[in-house]
Amino acid sequence: MGLMKERIDRIEGLKREKNAIILAHNYQRAEVQDIAEFVGDSLELARKAMETTSEIIIFCGVDFMAETAAILNPDKKVIIPDKGAICPMAQQLFADDLLVAKREHPDAEVVLYVNTLAESKALADCICTSANAQEIVKAMDAPTILFGPDHNLAYYAQKTTSKKIIPVPEHGLCPSHHQIALEDLIKAKEAHPEAKIGVHPECIPDVQDNADYIASTSGMVRICKEVEYAEFLIGTEVGLLHRLEKEAPGKKFYPISTTAVCPQMKMHTLEKIEVALEKEKPEVVVPDEIARKARRAIERMIEISK
Ligand code: 13P
Ligand code: SF4
Repeated sequence: MGLMKERIDRIEGLKREKNAIILAHNYQRAEVQDIAEFVGDSLELARKAMETTSEIIIFCGVDFMAETAAILNPDKKVIIPDKGAICPMAQQLFADDLLVAKREHPDAEVVLYVNTLAESKALADCICTSANAQEIVKAMDAPTILFGPDHNLAYYAQKTTSKKIIPVPEHGLCPSHHQIALEDLIKAKEAHPEAKIGVHPECIPDVQDNADYIASTSGMVRICKEVEYAEFLIGTEVGLLHRLEKEAPGKKFYPISTTAVCPQMKMHTLEKIEVALEKEKPEVVVPDEIARKARRAIERMIEISK
């Protein structure tokens, strides 16, 4: 029996023994996706974390996703196999900076991307993900919205509303998506002229404006499976191609940029997952007061995007 197969068997045994579940984001390594009970986008993972009856959640994603699961499930143990999986975008908006922006715009409501620190979420009126950003902004009461930290997602949210969206900070971005250039898209289209173009709303406006579809990671999987086309250019982190190829085996998928890799998402390995299950750590713990306030904003999002 190969070493990898032995490890997978041990992980499966530990999951059963401890009543644990593995939730994995769409950008995880292929082998991590393959041993997860559920693979999805940020919104789906938050929902799954709420639904599960398992006592332990092994969360294979970045810090803010695991924190969201912990905030929504104060009675469960949420474990992240590598604590270093920290989303750089979420580090671009600290609570103090948000407080300054709120003081400057006292009548604005605050919509924060789920890719934020729990302390910042605690100051938000509502959270959004890439799957519901346009819907959430439209559902807010105020005509002015402070929106952060991703200014590319703010551009996307602005497309379907006449509300005034103020990005905070001015130029928050995801390094992996921001580097996908219009020239990459043009070259990829020249190489595959029949392919439809699907991109994530964290991409720059020029890339969004030249795409056929803009969607969350799972949204892209759904679209590529449903539409009749056979070839797609994909503008997001390359990890999504594993799910696309698995779930739409007859179709062809090409990354617009092969260097669109999120190193933090790749930190979780089977080895680290086995250790995390054995030791039941590192646990993700959000202080009660912050969790209580952040939960309100996350639950408001879930309520709106039912
Ligand atoms: P999704 O919610 O679309 O999966 O996006 C999460 C993310 O971090 C994209 O970089
Ligand atoms: Fe954060 Fe970008 Fe990685 Fe998503 S892809 S987790 S936004 S750094």
